[in-house]
Amino acid sequence: MAVGVFDSGLGGLTVLDAVTRRLPDVPFVYFGDNAHAPYGVRDADDVYELTVAATERLFAAGCDLVILACNTASAAALRRMQESWVPRDKRVLGVFVPLIEALTERRWGDNSPPREVAVKHVALFATPATVRSRAFQRELAFRAIGVDVEAQACGGLVDAIEEGDMILAEALVRSHVDALKRKMPDPEAAILGCTHYPLMQEVFQDALGPEVAVYSQANLVADALADYLKRHPDMYGSGSDAMFLTTGDPRRVSGHATQFLRREISFISA
Ligand code: DGL
Repeated sequence: MAVGVFDSGLGGLTVLDAVTRRLPDVPFVYFGDNAHAPYGVRDADDVYELTVAATERLFAAGCDLVILACNTASAAALRRMQESWVPRDKRVLGVFVPLIEALTERRWGDNSPPREVAVKHVALFATPATVRSRAFQRELAFRAIGVDVEAQACGGLVDAIEEGDMILAEALVRSHVDALKRKMPDPEAAILGCTHYPLMQEVFQDALGPEVAVYSQANLVADALADYLKRHPDMYGSGSDAMFLTTGDPRRVSGHATQFLRREISFISA
């Protein structure tokens, strides 16, 4: 009954942690494409090819349903994959929509026309590729009107987190928040639009100030997945073992993952 969780690297572990807590009986197979991270500086074709290869590996590991716990892949590759590549008996889902539904106070599947919502000024922090794709603004426009979104591409942040250089990561968060605030001095809400960023959530909150509501995806995705699996129990795959796969160096990746999740994580070669 395995389900796949994919990210370019370690960021998807924030989602994995939440889905594991929410669905403790499901064996999750995690794939970190650490050898090719960060995706955020790659072009859309490149992100598409890498995401397809990783998803194929997760299908081979007995997962019929794969969650792209990576905003960059969700923004740059998911639609193309769903339209022209995903086999009929498999599903690939992204992490954008649950977040936008929470921000716009919608329930899953509420396809009513866009309407005014409580928040008017939203800061989006994401990778350069996600910001460039404008996928967040597109999904938001389907659901809400009158929301001003200011996006900040957080160059360098994923690399620093992947390297485990948390001092540099903190400095980058603070400088990206400063840059955002020069463009939008008083955001009401901030979206952490990259699954690596919740690892720095306290620094984002501190730099933004207590009055800014910071939205991150992990728990929202976990709720959406639990709901999806209740409605589609046929999407549990044939795999029975949880595992952590990486294209990078398993020993190094396991060390960083263990540090981030504060529990022993052992990756093996994908
Ligand atoms: N965690 C990925 C995301 O959510 C990071 C992308 C990257 O590798 O740059 O976008």
